[in-house]
Amino acid sequence: MYSVRTERLLVRGYEPTDAAASGELLKANLEHLARWMPWATMEATTIDSRLAWIRRARADLDRPASDLVYGIFDGSSGELMGGIGLHARVGPQALEIGYWISVAHEGRGYVTEAAGALTRVAFDVHRVARVEIHCDPRNVRSAAVPRRLGYTHDATLRRRALDPRGRECDRMIWSLFADELGASAATKVRYEAFDALGRSVARG
Ligand SMILES: CC(C)(COP(=O)(O)OP(=O)(O)OC[C@H]1O[C@@H](n2cnc3c(N)ncnc32)[C@H](O)[C@@H]1OP(=O)(O)O)[C@@H](O)C(=O)NCCC(=O)NCCS
Repeated sequence: MYSVRTERLLVRGYEPTDAAASGELLKANLEHLARWMPWATMEATTIDSRLAWIRRARADLDRPASDLVYGIFDGSSGELMGGIGLHARVGPQALEIGYWISVAHEGRGYVTEAAGALTRVAFDVHRVARVEIHCDPRNVRSAAVPRRLGYTHDATLRRRALDPRGRECDRMIWSLFADELGASAATKVRYEAFDALGRSVARG
């Protein structure tokens, strides 16, 4: 899946021409992201480093069973607002969704909308049996996203990750199974997904 449109958003693979906007957005949000996302503290924001990162992310879109990383863009203006990914790191037949949004665009439901659409894409296009969302239990805004979408809190694993300062932290695991999708709030998010040629591959 290359892109997905929702009511307010375009979630699509990054293009090389997004390098400058991606660097600016990261630079403006380093503190915001570094609280919860260890990678953010290591990310370089120069246009060349962003271009190199985008080229790797684009290559991954074409590799089966790898990380599928997308930008979250305003569906009307095209402004880059955040990022979201479908990650194949939680075992077979399953994908994990990770996300972030710029501090300027928090609190409008954009992440819930994007994560709801990717939840549907994971089941409808990638045909997985389970989708997971993981977060630090102290990250209440993040935990609210799977809760809002109807995921179940399976467990909070103790001391299972390192926070961005390198300290041990707990890991909350949320999951949604394919046969639970229909009754979940994720189905309230309308979406249409497209392939590399812009052909519609799924909608709902
Ligand atoms: C975690 C994070 C992605 C959550 O972002 P968010 O903006 O709170 O999430 P949403 O975009 O879904 O917005 C939800 C809020 O918008 C409100 N909202 C407004 N319109 C809405 C709509 N149409 N649909 C749903 N919610 C809506 C909700 O009521 C909620 O508000 P509240 O926080 O006052 O309860 C964000 O805080 C972030 O990027 N943090 C830093 C990086 C990070 O922690 N990533 C996750 C790592 S696990």
